[in-house]
Amino acid sequence: MDKRIITSDLLVDEEIDVTLRPQYFKEYIGQKDVKEMIEIAVKAAKKRNESLDHVLLYGPPGLGKTTLAQVIANEMDVNMKFVSGPTVERTGDLAAILTSLEPGDVLFIDEIHRLPKIVEEILYSSMEDYVIDIVVGKDAGAKSIRVDLSPFTLIGATTRFGDLTGPLRDRFGIIHKLEFYSDDELKKICKRTASIYECEFESKAIVELAKRSRGTPRIVNRLFRRVRDFADILGDGLITFDITKMALNKLKIDELGLDNKDREYLIGIIEKYNGGPVGLDTIATSISEDPTTLEDVYEPYLIQKGFISRTPRGRVVTEKAYRHLKKSYQGALF
Ligand SMILES: Nc1ncnc2c1ncn2[C@@H]1O[C@H](COP(=O)(O)OP(=O)(O)O)[C@@H](O)[C@H]1O
Ligand SMILES: [Mg+2]
Repeated sequence: MDKRIITSDLLVDEEIDVTLRPQYFKEYIGQKDVKEMIEIAVKAAKKRNESLDHVLLYGPPGLGKTTLAQVIANEMDVNMKFVSGPTVERTGDLAAILTSLEPGDVLFIDEIHRLPKIVEEILYSSMEDYVIDIVVGKDAGAKSIRVDLSPFTLIGATTRFGDLTGPLRDRFGIIHKLEFYSDDELKKICKRTASIYECEFESKAIVELAKRSRGTPRIVNRLFRRVRDFADILGDGLITFDITKMALNKLKIDELGLDNKDREYLIGIIEKYNGGPVGLDTIATSISEDPTTLEDVYEPYLIQKGFISRTPRGRVVTEKAYRHLKKSYQGALF
């Protein structure tokens, strides 16, 4: 089976090549408004010699949340500690991390919506007053000790803003949604990647890669690596337009970046449910996919493209999607 490009592992922070990750604002392409706001906040905090206010970044996987957090820490010239929500099981784990932070440090919590409730609760006082209350002893002998923390910055990242509890959300001073990237921005990212890998390319090849990367830097980098393999094996390493097209077709990525799973999803709704509306769980079961993956990884791009709409009664495939499928597959699917 093909190694899929747009898989649920987009949710996992797998980055084969850390050299691709921008380190400073000037290398961080796109997200203009978000970047501008955060740059000002960073400059102001530095000028006042304070820690930066807590930051929440949300949006689909692969758009640069973790990267931006690292950029912020670099620009603030502080250390960043990295944890993932679901792996912090006990309050003690988080308490240990919080008490180890130096003044101004960044604590990055990925998938912050998956932090267990009791762990989340100790974040409240730490975010607000830089203190935590730790319970020691048991039963009648149990008592609570207050521990002071260094002023720090919490940066939370999530693909599911709506799953955050109100009290947690309210404690972030800076909240931004990352948007899909334009083709132009993806071209810049792709050129940067090519130059880091010291690859020569035809500019039409980069245009093609940008077009088919569903607005996502992580995907443009992945596709670039696959195309580079083809160019190395079939040619002399030059990334040509022809090789790019051929490689992307072999990977079954269509001209808008849709892959087999997107098509299975859209065609599933069309054929089995007459175009919808159909509930998320129902369609997920019928194409053997996890509903969360569909919702977090596949749907945001399909919605942005106007291929599906979410209605109170379920998902509906739009006319635009029908037209795209017909045009791309010349009716072969119906
Ligand atoms: N603004 C950007 N400019 C250049 N490259 C980027 C940008 N955002 C992300 N990338 C690339 O995409 C990869 C995935 O980004 P990442 O921050 O891990 O996404 P997320 O945390 O939102 O899932 C990064 O390792 C980096 O190579
Ligand atoms: Mg991430």
